Amino acid sequence: MSEQEQHYDDAFSAFLEEVWGEGYMSPGGAEEVSRVLEGLDLTGKTTLDIGCGTGAITLSLVKDHGAARSVGIDVEAVVCEKARARAAGAGAAGQVEIVEVVPGPLPFADESFDLVFSKDSIIHIEDKEALARDVYRVLKPGGIFAASDWLSSHDDSPTPEMQLYLDLEGLGFTMASAQRWEKALDAAGFADVATKNRNPWYREVAREELETLSGARRKEFEEKCGKDLVAQNVAVWEAMVHVLNTGELCPHHLRARKPA
Ligand SMILES: C[S@@+](CC[C@H](N)C(=O)[O-])C[C@H]1O[C@@H](n2cnc3c(N)ncnc32)[C@H](O)[C@@H]1O
Repeated sequence: MSEQEQHYDDAFSAFLEEVWGEGYMSPGGAEEVSRVLEGLDLTGKTTLDIGCGTGAITLSLVKDHGAARSVGIDVEAVVCEKARARAAGAGAAGQVEIVEVVPGPLPFADESFDLVFSKDSIIHIEDKEALARDVYRVLKPGGIFAASDWLSSHDDSPTPEMQLYLDLEGLGFTMASAQRWEKALDAAGFADVATKNRNPWYREVAREELETLSGARRKEFEEKCGKDLVAQNVAVWEAMVHVLNTGELCPHHLRARKPA
């Protein structure tokens, strides 16, 4: 077991996969991943997936999107193990490498990747500016950064409603605004910087998820995941739906190109 604090232990990662689909620890499944990658041709490319979780997306970059090689990194041992098993089970162990890392600079040489991808994981990384510079460093000239992340509508202190949500989650989230991200990517040297607010999509989806969790399928979730975990997450979802409705919590797609 690594010394990294394990937020996404067996029970919690299994719960998230129950809500969001096997191998997915964030919303939207394969369709949302395809939207993040819209217009990109990954055929034969080498990709990095920052915060790969239990690995469905790292694997799909090879299996569904044509990448030749996909490297997934994560700081938690439990999810790395699950991601490795998923890749091996799909017969893709030769193309998918899962690396357990410590928080900090990306442990890769300059110009290693054609695409740096991330899905709802950068929220765990506080220094967005340093990350933007590091992503730029590991991308080959002409390479693309394509990500989804959970942003805030502002860079001031969280409102009490957002603070309640962050406290209930207890995952050490730090959010930036789209404006801060655009500035960070520009300053790192990227071109064609674009952000897209996914709040209108996720606020509807999250409301349906809350209905499912607290009503229609609550018993089923309780039997699989335990009453306490479900009760705790119903409270998380209620607080999250509130800040999605106010617009303060606003998942975004981020896209930028390293000039050739
Ligand atoms: C919400 S999950 C998303 C996982 C995956 N991208 C998905 O969508 O299914 C966030 C993941 O980021 C990982 N993480 C947290 N801090 C990280 C860091 N500094 N570097 C890489 N991964 C990190 C967590 O361990 C967790 O597996």
